Amino acid sequence: MKQLTISQLVRKNILELQPYISFRDHNKFQAPVLMDANESPFGEYNRYPDSTQKELKRKIADFKNLSPNQIAVGNGSDELIDLIIKIFCEPKKDAIMMMNPSFAMYAFYAAINENKVIKIDLDENFEIIKQDFLKVSKETQPKIFFLCSPNNPTGNSVEDIEFYLQNFDGIVVVDEAYIEFSTKKSSLELLVKYPNLIVLQTFSKAWGKAGARVGIACATEEIIRLINTVKAPYNVNSLSQELILKSIDESDKLQQNVENILIERAWLESELEQIQCVIRIFPTDANFFLVEFDDVNLVYQKLLEKEVLTNKRAPAIPDCIRINIGTREENKSLIAALKNL
Ligand SMILES: Cc1ncc(COP(=O)(O)O)c(C=O)c1O
Repeated sequence: MKQLTISQLVRKNILELQPYISFRDHNKFQAPVLMDANESPFGEYNRYPDSTQKELKRKIADFKNLSPNQIAVGNGSDELIDLIIKIFCEPKKDAIMMMNPSFAMYAFYAAINENKVIKIDLDENFEIIKQDFLKVSKETQPKIFFLCSPNNPTGNSVEDIEFYLQNFDGIVVVDEAYIEFSTKKSSLELLVKYPNLIVLQTFSKAWGKAGARVGIACATEEIIRLINTVKAPYNVNSLSQELILKSIDESDKLQQNVENILIERAWLESELEQIQCVIRIFPTDANFFLVEFDDVNLVYQKLLEKEVLTNKRAPAIPDCIRINIGTREENKSLIAALKNL
Protein backbone atom coordinates (compact mmCIF):
# COMPACT_ATOMS: atom_id res chain seq x y z
CA MET A 1 0.00 0.00 0.00
CA LYS A 2 1.31 3.43 -0.89
CA GLN A 3 1.31 5.53 2.26
CA LEU A 4 0.39 9.18 2.49
CA THR A 5 3.29 11.25 3.81
CA ILE A 6 3.09 12.91 7.22
CA SER A 7 2.76 16.37 5.67
CA GLN A 8 -0.18 15.07 3.61
CA LEU A 9 -1.84 13.72 6.75
CA VAL A 10 -1.35 16.67 9.07
CA ARG A 11 -3.88 19.53 9.29
CA LYS A 12 -2.80 22.46 7.14
CA ASN A 13 -3.11 25.06 9.92
CA ILE A 14 -0.87 22.93 12.16
CA LEU A 15 1.72 22.58 9.42
CA GLU A 16 1.83 26.37 9.17
CA LEU A 17 1.87 26.95 12.93
CA GLN A 18 4.96 28.52 14.48
CA PRO A 19 5.82 26.86 17.82
CA TYR A 20 5.98 29.03 20.93
CA ILE A 21 9.71 29.22 21.54
CA SER A 22 11.07 29.82 25.01
CA PHE A 23 14.25 31.68 24.04
CA ARG A 24 16.22 30.64 27.09
CA ASP A 25 15.44 26.93 26.60
CA HIS A 26 16.57 26.95 23.00
CA ASN A 27 19.91 28.68 23.63
CA LYS A 28 22.95 27.93 25.73
CA PHE A 29 23.98 30.41 28.46
CA GLN A 30 26.69 30.15 31.10
CA ALA A 31 25.21 32.23 33.96
CA PRO A 32 22.21 34.12 32.59
CA VAL A 33 20.46 36.97 34.41
CA LEU A 34 16.87 35.87 34.01
CA MET A 35 14.68 38.91 33.39
CA ASP A 36 12.73 37.55 30.43
CA ALA A 37 9.77 35.60 31.78
CA ASN A 38 8.16 37.76 34.49
CA GLU A 39 8.96 35.17 37.14
CA SER A 40 9.64 35.93 40.76
CA PRO A 41 13.37 36.18 41.44
CA PHE A 42 12.73 34.70 44.95
CA GLY A 43 11.97 31.28 46.28
CA GLU A 44 12.11 27.64 45.22
CA TYR A 45 10.50 26.51 41.99
CA ASN A 46 10.15 30.19 41.08
CA ARG A 47 11.35 29.49 37.52
CA TYR A 48 9.36 27.99 34.69
CA PRO A 49 10.29 24.40 33.84
CA ASP A 50 12.45 23.59 30.82
CA SER A 51 9.89 23.78 28.01
CA THR A 52 12.03 21.48 25.85
CA GLN A 53 12.53 18.89 28.62
CA LYS A 54 16.10 18.43 27.37
CA GLU A 55 17.56 16.49 30.26
CA LEU A 56 14.52 14.31 30.64
CA LYS A 57 14.43 13.46 26.94
CA ARG A 58 18.14 12.67 26.94
CA LYS A 59 17.74 10.27 29.88
CA ILE A 60 14.63 8.62 28.45
CA ALA A 61 16.33 8.33 25.05
CA ASP A 62 19.35 6.59 26.63
CA PHE A 63 17.08 4.26 28.54
CA LYS A 64 14.98 3.37 25.48
CA ASN A 65 17.82 3.37 23.01
CA LEU A 66 16.32 6.17 20.92
CA SER A 67 17.38 9.68 19.93
CA PRO A 68 16.00 12.56 22.07
CA ASN A 69 14.52 13.94 18.83
CA GLN A 70 12.28 10.88 18.63
CA ILE A 71 10.62 11.64 21.98
CA ALA A 72 7.85 14.05 23.01
CA VAL A 73 6.94 14.31 26.69
CA GLY A 74 3.36 14.92 27.77
CA ASN A 75 1.31 15.61 30.87
CA GLY A 76 0.54 11.90 30.97
CA SER A 77 0.00 9.98 27.73
CA ASP A 78 -3.56 11.34 27.93
CA GLU A 79 -2.27 14.73 26.81
CA LEU A 80 -0.38 13.12 23.94
CA ILE A 81 -3.53 11.33 22.73
CA ASP A 82 -5.29 14.71 22.68
CA LEU A 83 -2.42 16.40 20.81
CA ILE A 84 -2.10 13.63 18.22
CA ILE A 85 -5.81 13.92 17.41
CA LYS A 86 -5.55 17.70 17.16
CA ILE A 87 -2.53 17.48 14.83
CA PHE A 88 -4.04 15.08 12.30
CA CYS A 89 -7.84 15.36 12.53
CA GLU A 90 -9.76 18.26 11.06
CA PRO A 91 -12.69 18.99 13.44
CA LYS A 92 -16.11 17.94 12.06
CA LYS A 93 -14.42 16.24 9.10
CA ASP A 94 -11.92 13.54 10.01
CA ALA A 95 -12.37 10.32 11.97
CA ILE A 96 -10.30 8.20 14.31
CA MET A 97 -10.58 4.42 14.53
CA MET A 98 -10.19 2.31 17.66
CA MET A 99 -10.70 -1.20 18.94
CA ASN A 100 -13.91 -1.92 20.83
CA PRO A 101 -13.64 -2.38 23.77
CA SER A 102 -10.53 -0.32 24.38
CA PHE A 103 -9.27 2.71 26.31
CA ALA A 104 -12.03 5.31 26.53
CA MET A 105 -9.87 8.42 26.20
CA TYR A 106 -9.33 8.05 22.43
CA ALA A 107 -13.06 8.57 21.87
CA PHE A 108 -13.23 11.25 24.58
CA TYR A 109 -10.60 13.48 22.98
CA ALA A 110 -11.99 12.81 19.49
CA ALA A 111 -15.41 13.95 20.73
CA ILE A 112 -13.97 17.17 22.18
CA ASN A 113 -12.33 17.85 18.82
CA GLU A 114 -15.60 16.91 17.02
CA ASN A 115 -14.07 13.97 15.22
CA LYS A 116 -16.03 10.86 14.41
CA VAL A 117 -15.05 7.64 16.21
CA ILE A 118 -15.07 4.40 14.22
CA LYS A 119 -15.09 1.35 16.48
CA ILE A 120 -13.89 -2.08 15.35
CA ASP A 121 -15.57 -4.72 17.49
CA LEU A 122 -13.16 -7.33 18.85
CA ASP A 123 -14.02 -11.05 18.54
CA GLU A 124 -14.81 -13.36 21.48
CA ASN A 125 -11.09 -13.62 22.31
CA PHE A 126 -10.81 -9.82 22.18
CA GLU A 127 -8.83 -9.92 18.94
CA ILE A 128 -9.23 -7.68 15.91
CA ILE A 129 -10.93 -9.30 12.93
CA LYS A 130 -8.53 -8.33 10.14
CA GLN A 131 -11.21 -8.45 7.43
CA ASP A 132 -13.33 -5.98 9.41
CA PHE A 133 -10.33 -3.71 9.85
CA LEU A 134 -9.55 -3.75 6.10
CA LYS A 135 -13.18 -3.18 5.11
CA VAL A 136 -13.99 -0.47 7.65
CA SER A 137 -10.75 1.47 7.23
CA LYS A 138 -11.19 1.46 3.44
CA GLU A 139 -14.80 2.66 3.68
CA THR A 140 -14.30 5.32 6.34
CA GLN A 141 -10.68 6.48 5.76
CA PRO A 142 -9.90 7.39 9.38
CA LYS A 143 -6.81 9.49 9.95
CA ILE A 144 -5.60 7.65 13.06
CA PHE A 145 -5.90 4.04 14.25
CA PHE A 146 -5.42 3.62 18.00
CA LEU A 147 -4.09 0.16 18.84
CA CYS A 148 -3.88 -0.49 22.55
CA SER A 149 -1.45 -3.28 23.38
CA PRO A 150 -1.81 -4.71 26.00
CA ASN A 151 -5.39 -3.54 25.65
CA ASN A 152 -7.26 -1.80 28.43
CA PRO A 153 -9.70 -3.23 29.61
CA THR A 154 -9.30 -6.70 28.08
CA GLY A 155 -5.64 -7.29 29.11
CA ASN A 156 -4.52 -9.14 25.96
CA SER A 157 -2.01 -7.85 23.38
CA VAL A 158 -2.61 -7.05 19.73
CA GLU A 159 -1.11 -9.73 17.48
CA ASP A 160 0.67 -8.88 14.22
CA ILE A 161 0.94 -5.12 14.67
CA GLU A 162 2.93 -4.82 11.43
CA PHE A 163 -0.13 -5.93 9.48
CA TYR A 164 -1.96 -2.77 10.61
CA LEU A 165 1.05 -0.57 9.94
CA GLN A 166 1.29 -1.95 6.42
CA ASN A 167 -2.42 -1.74 5.67
CA PHE A 168 -3.48 1.57 7.17
CA ASP A 169 -3.16 4.77 5.21
CA GLY A 170 -2.83 7.06 8.18
CA ILE A 171 -1.19 7.29 11.59
CA VAL A 172 -1.04 4.13 13.71
CA VAL A 173 -0.74 4.83 17.42
CA VAL A 174 0.35 1.84 19.50
CA ASP A 175 -0.50 2.63 23.11
CA GLU A 176 1.89 0.62 25.30
CA ALA A 177 0.81 1.90 28.70
CA TYR A 178 1.13 -1.65 30.11
CA ILE A 179 4.04 -2.98 28.03
CA GLU A 180 6.38 -3.52 30.98
CA PHE A 181 4.06 -6.20 32.39
CA SER A 182 4.02 -8.10 29.12
CA THR A 183 6.40 -10.64 27.64
CA LYS A 184 5.57 -9.32 24.15
CA LYS A 185 8.01 -7.09 22.29
CA SER A 186 7.54 -3.33 22.30
CA SER A 187 6.73 -1.70 18.94
CA LEU A 188 9.53 0.81 19.54
CA GLU A 189 11.76 -1.34 17.36
CA LEU A 190 9.35 -0.82 14.44
CA LEU A 191 9.94 2.95 14.43
CA VAL A 192 12.84 2.61 12.00
CA LYS A 193 10.60 0.83 9.52
CA TYR A 194 7.31 2.75 9.70
CA PRO A 195 7.16 6.57 9.48
CA ASN A 196 3.41 6.45 10.28
CA LEU A 197 3.94 4.84 13.72
CA ILE A 198 3.63 6.58 17.09
CA VAL A 199 4.32 4.54 20.24
CA LEU A 200 2.89 5.85 23.51
CA GLN A 201 4.33 4.84 26.87
CA THR A 202 3.79 6.15 30.37
CA PHE A 203 5.41 6.49 33.78
CA SER A 204 2.00 5.97 35.40
CA LYS A 205 1.86 2.17 35.52
CA ALA A 206 4.97 -0.01 35.94
CA TRP A 207 7.08 2.99 37.01
CA GLY A 208 4.53 3.78 39.73
CA LYS A 209 4.43 7.51 39.05
CA ALA A 210 0.81 8.19 38.07
CA GLY A 211 0.78 11.26 40.31
CA ALA A 212 3.58 12.91 38.34
CA ARG A 213 1.58 12.81 35.07
CA VAL A 214 4.35 12.00 32.62
CA GLY A 215 3.92 10.07 29.39
CA ILE A 216 5.94 9.88 26.19
CA ALA A 217 5.30 9.64 22.47
CA CYS A 218 8.03 8.04 20.36
CA ALA A 219 8.01 8.56 16.60
CA THR A 220 9.96 10.05 13.70
CA GLU A 221 11.53 13.47 14.22
CA GLU A 222 8.93 14.93 11.87
CA ILE A 223 6.01 13.80 14.04
CA ILE A 224 7.79 14.74 17.27
CA ARG A 225 8.36 18.25 15.92
CA LEU A 226 4.62 18.57 15.30
CA ILE A 227 3.77 17.42 18.84
CA ASN A 228 6.29 19.87 20.27
CA THR A 229 4.75 22.63 18.18
CA VAL A 230 1.22 22.17 19.50
CA LYS A 231 1.92 21.29 23.14
CA ALA A 232 1.55 23.89 25.87
CA PRO A 233 5.09 25.25 26.38
CA TYR A 234 5.37 24.25 30.04
CA ASN A 235 3.23 21.11 29.92
CA VAL A 236 5.44 19.07 32.29
CA ASN A 237 6.20 20.83 35.56
CA SER A 238 9.64 21.00 37.22
CA LEU A 239 8.75 18.68 40.11
CA SER A 240 7.58 15.97 37.75
CA GLN A 241 10.61 16.32 35.51
CA GLU A 242 12.90 15.96 38.54
CA LEU A 243 10.95 12.98 39.88
CA ILE A 244 11.11 11.10 36.59
CA LEU A 245 14.84 11.87 36.17
CA LYS A 246 15.37 10.35 39.62
CA SER A 247 13.21 7.32 38.77
CA ILE A 248 15.29 6.59 35.70
CA ASP A 249 18.46 6.84 37.79
CA GLU A 250 16.91 4.21 40.05
CA SER A 251 15.55 2.06 37.25
CA ASP A 252 16.42 -1.17 39.10
CA LYS A 253 13.30 -0.33 41.15
CA LEU A 254 11.22 -0.59 37.99
CA GLN A 255 12.16 -4.22 37.51
CA GLN A 256 11.47 -4.94 41.18
CA ASN A 257 8.09 -3.23 40.96
CA VAL A 258 7.13 -5.23 37.87
CA GLU A 259 8.29 -8.50 39.44
CA ASN A 260 6.29 -7.80 42.61
CA ILE A 261 3.18 -7.07 40.57
CA LEU A 262 3.63 -10.23 38.51
CA ILE A 263 3.96 -12.28 41.72
CA GLU A 264 0.79 -10.66 43.05
CA ARG A 265 -0.94 -11.21 39.70
CA ALA A 266 -0.24 -14.95 39.89
CA TRP A 267 -1.38 -15.07 43.52
CA LEU A 268 -4.58 -13.17 42.83
CA GLU A 269 -5.40 -15.33 39.83
CA SER A 270 -5.07 -18.54 41.85
CA GLU A 271 -7.27 -17.07 44.60
CA LEU A 272 -9.90 -15.79 42.17
CA GLU A 273 -10.10 -19.21 40.51
CA GLN A 274 -11.42 -20.58 43.79
CA ILE A 275 -14.18 -18.00 44.20
CA GLN A 276 -17.60 -19.40 43.39
CA CYS A 277 -19.10 -16.37 41.63
CA VAL A 278 -16.09 -16.07 39.30
CA ILE A 279 -16.99 -17.53 35.93
CA ARG A 280 -13.89 -16.63 33.94
CA ILE A 281 -10.61 -14.77 34.34
CA PHE A 282 -9.42 -13.52 30.97
CA PRO A 283 -5.71 -13.95 30.19
CA THR A 284 -3.76 -10.75 30.77
CA ASP A 285 -0.44 -9.17 29.78
CA ALA A 286 -1.10 -6.19 32.05
CA ASN A 287 -1.42 -5.26 35.73
CA PHE A 288 -5.14 -5.99 35.81
CA PHE A 289 -7.63 -8.76 35.13
CA LEU A 290 -10.91 -8.66 33.35
CA VAL A 291 -13.11 -11.04 35.35
CA GLU A 292 -16.51 -12.42 34.42
CA PHE A 293 -18.87 -12.89 37.37
CA ASP A 294 -22.12 -14.57 38.06
CA ASP A 295 -24.49 -11.69 39.01
CA VAL A 296 -21.98 -8.94 38.26
CA ASN A 297 -24.15 -6.10 39.61
CA LEU A 298 -24.49 -7.75 42.99
CA VAL A 299 -20.75 -8.50 43.17
CA TYR A 300 -19.84 -4.93 42.22
CA GLN A 301 -22.32 -3.46 44.72
CA LYS A 302 -21.16 -5.69 47.56
CA LEU A 303 -17.52 -4.84 46.88
CA LEU A 304 -18.42 -1.17 46.90
CA GLU A 305 -20.19 -1.54 50.25
CA LYS A 306 -16.91 -2.90 51.60
CA GLU A 307 -15.09 0.01 49.97
CA VAL A 308 -13.23 -2.25 47.57
CA LEU A 309 -13.25 -0.15 44.42
CA THR A 310 -13.17 -2.00 41.12
CA ASN A 311 -14.11 -1.00 37.59
CA LYS A 312 -17.38 -2.43 36.31
CA ARG A 313 -17.28 -2.92 32.53
CA ALA A 314 -20.71 -4.51 32.28
CA PRO A 315 -22.94 -4.06 30.36
CA ALA A 316 -20.49 -3.01 27.59
CA ILE A 317 -18.51 -6.19 28.32
CA PRO A 318 -21.21 -8.49 29.66
CA ASP A 319 -20.83 -9.57 33.30
CA CYS A 320 -17.28 -8.23 33.59
CA ILE A 321 -15.36 -6.20 36.12
CA ARG A 322 -11.80 -4.96 35.63
CA ILE A 323 -9.65 -5.37 38.72
CA ASN A 324 -6.10 -4.14 39.03
CA ILE A 325 -3.42 -5.90 41.02
CA GLY A 326 -2.86 -4.41 44.47
CA THR A 327 -0.51 -5.09 47.35
CA ARG A 328 -0.92 -8.49 49.05
CA GLU A 329 -2.99 -6.79 51.72
CA GLU A 330 -5.29 -5.14 49.17
CA ASN A 331 -5.59 -8.36 47.20
CA LYS A 332 -6.52 -10.19 50.40
CA SER A 333 -9.22 -7.56 51.11
CA LEU A 334 -10.69 -8.16 47.67
CA ILE A 335 -10.68 -11.95 48.11
CA ALA A 336 -12.16 -11.70 51.62
CA ALA A 337 -14.92 -9.44 50.31
CA LEU A 338 -15.69 -11.84 47.47
CA LYS A 339 -15.81 -14.80 49.87
CA ASN A 340 -18.29 -12.97 52.08
CA LEU A 341 -20.71 -11.51 49.57
C1 LIG B 1 -4.21 2.25 27.58
C2 LIG B 1 -3.95 3.49 28.35
N1 LIG B 1 -3.35 4.52 27.74
C3 LIG B 1 -3.09 5.65 28.38
C4 LIG B 1 -3.45 5.82 29.70
C5 LIG B 1 -3.19 7.13 30.36
O1 LIG B 1 -1.98 7.13 30.96
P1 LIG B 1 -1.34 8.45 31.60
O2 LIG B 1 -1.45 8.30 33.06
O3 LIG B 1 0.07 8.44 31.09
O4 LIG B 1 -2.12 9.63 31.08
C6 LIG B 1 -4.08 4.78 30.39
C7 LIG B 1 -4.49 4.96 31.79
O5 LIG B 1 -5.20 4.20 32.38
C8 LIG B 1 -4.34 3.59 29.69
O6 LIG B 1 -4.97 2.57 30.26
